[in-house]
Amino acid sequence: MKILKIAVIAGDGVGPEVINEGINVLNKVAGIDSSFKFEFTYFPWGCEFYSKHGKMMDDDGIEQLKEFDAIYLGAVGFPGVPDHISLWDLLLKIRKSFDQYVNIRPVTLLKGAKTALNDVKREDINMLFIRENSEGEYSGAGDWLFKGQEHEVVLQNSVFSRKGTERIIRYAFETAKKEGRSLTSISKGNALNYSMVFWDQVFEEVSAEYPEVKTASYLVDAAAMLMIKDPKRFEVVVTSNLFGDILTDLGAAIAGGIGLAAGANINPERDYPSMFEPIHGSAPDIAGRGIANPLATIWSASQMLDFFGYEVYGKMVLDAIEQLLTEGQVLTPDMNGTASTSEVADRIIEIIESTVPSNTLNV
Ligand code: NAI
Ligand code: MG
Repeated sequence: MKILKIAVIAGDGVGPEVINEGINVLNKVAGIDSSFKFEFTYFPWGCEFYSKHGKMMDDDGIEQLKEFDAIYLGAVGFPGVPDHISLWDLLLKIRKSFDQYVNIRPVTLLKGAKTALNDVKREDINMLFIRENSEGEYSGAGDWLFKGQEHEVVLQNSVFSRKGTERIIRYAFETAKKEGRSLTSISKGNALNYSMVFWDQVFEEVSAEYPEVKTASYLVDAAAMLMIKDPKRFEVVVTSNLFGDILTDLGAAIAGGIGLAAGANINPERDYPSMFEPIHGSAPDIAGRGIANPLATIWSASQMLDFFGYEVYGKMVLDAIEQLLTEGQVLTPDMNGTASTSEVADRIIEIIESTVPSNTLNV
């Protein structure tokens, strides 16, 4: 039997609440197929760890994570620890150390999910965002000169390397080609006269290798407007780290809400573990009440199954989410329901059970 070793960083706030339910779903799915199972190892890292030890993770944390097949992350960040520390010393450290340079965020309106837009058909919201995840605006390069003095100066540099830009754009073209869909690049070449002019140039260069892929290119401000006004024109989308971060939250709002949006941080070469997570944060305002929506975390479990080559089970989980949304009976308050986090996950598990012949279930 194949054993998939998963490092679990549940993190802060609602992180542990939703991740536990994702694990229940993964275990249920693995129970259907006797050829593989998951082995979960828990790491207590996050803001509580920081308050005890003055750091977000063990000093050799990256070394410890290296041996795993994947990382399953809840959310990190909590009042009391500055967000730039919690984000940089854990989440961004993992993404960078493991060269998880592709961030895949589906913006797909599932059956039964509500959109904030009027007059759109469900099929019109079906985008796949491919966000550069290792450099760009989140390179961390910069300086803070004369801090606290009248003449202080802050520099926050973007880094767009030839290698980093080419590889994300090429990955997006490969994806669009495989899926037979168009590819849209989102940049800002008019104002960002080095980085984004370069991005646009690389996009054009790589596009010459893929004559079969239909392309479009938008400025980020226009893209934000068009995602609302005419979402169907976006299919596969490639963009930079910052723009992808912002536009996928907008995407979440038009595709079922932040409680439903998932993201995969992928190292395509599989030299290092990839990481799967909901895109939302630790939601301190609702933490501890058992009402966080676990569906984003469960969707990211579906992405993990796809990544391991179990697309049939990835689809089974996604189908279960669609059925639950279509039934509309067991939903958390963010989706105007009254159910708890665990009630939603239990219903997902029931739906999965009902789609599999009972004699094949061995958990
Ligand atoms: P957030 O995503 O935690 O919350 C924004 C709003 O969405 C809140 O009203 C919250 O209640 C709601 N929400 C989020 N997830 C939900 C869920 N599963 N079910 C129902 N409602 C949900 O973003 P916010 O408030 O800006 O950040 C809170 C903390 O999370 C900060 O410390 C921030 O740095 C951190 N953060 C961490 C991320 C990560 O670990 N990947 C990503 C974004 C923020
Ligand atoms: Mg974000």
